[in-house]
Amino acid sequence: MKLIVAMTGGSGAQYGLHIIKTLLDLGHEPEIVISPAAIKVLELEVGNSYRSILSNVEVQYDVNDIAAPIASGTHRNDGMIIAPCSMKTIAAIASGYTQNLIHRAADCMLKEGRKLVLLFRETPLNLIHLKNLTLLKEAGATIMPAAPGFYYHPKTVNDLVDFIVAKVLSQFGIPHPRFAPWDPEKAKEDLLEDNS
Ligand SMILES: Cc1cc2nc3c(=O)[nH]c(=O)nc-3n(C[C@H](O)[C@H](O)[C@H](O)COP(=O)(O)O)c2cc1C
Repeated sequence: MKLIVAMTGGSGAQYGLHIIKTLLDLGHEPEIVISPAAIKVLELEVGNSYRSILSNVEVQYDVNDIAAPIASGTHRNDGMIIAPCSMKTIAAIASGYTQNLIHRAADCMLKEGRKLVLLFRETPLNLIHLKNLTLLKEAGATIMPAAPGFYYHPKTVNDLVDFIVAKVLSQFGIPHPRFAPWDPEKAKEDLLEDNS
């Protein structure tokens, strides 16, 4: 599957990074574009280790290259994920003010009727955020708050990240290697084990 993955300057850089890593591990070839604010947040939240993961991605676009292939609706792809998606990028896409390649590629997804998944971490949400998110939902985007479920009894931060990564990838029919579908019997067994 050929997905565009963009990272912007919202908190939750681990989500975008793990989406890219999981796609690579599964043999997909993501095309990526990363905003300067996302780089800043990666440095603050993840540290330098992000560089080695991103170095495995063959196709990486400059966020200012508005002539890149993904700036056109003619580019062949299976959709786009923005993770994390800042409220600034949400506002830019919702208003159609495509100032950089991430905004433009997202605009192309909506106009071509392709899947656009927007994963955001922001909380609480003000009325402007809510109106922009509503508009994007009406325009066809998939709106995903980065809100992990606790019914899988996560034990590590990675478990929480995996939950969200699995949810995002399932939007494209891609099963997560470390995340089985919900099984209430297994959940009961896990809980007994945790409490023993
Ligand atoms: C550590 C850190 C965490 C941030 N977290 C968020 C966030 O969760 N949501 C958000 O909308 N902006 C967040 N911001 C602010 C954005 O990075 C800022 O609005 C930036 O201009 C977004 O630009 P971009 O959308 O082009 O990447 C954060 C900034 C920093 C430095």
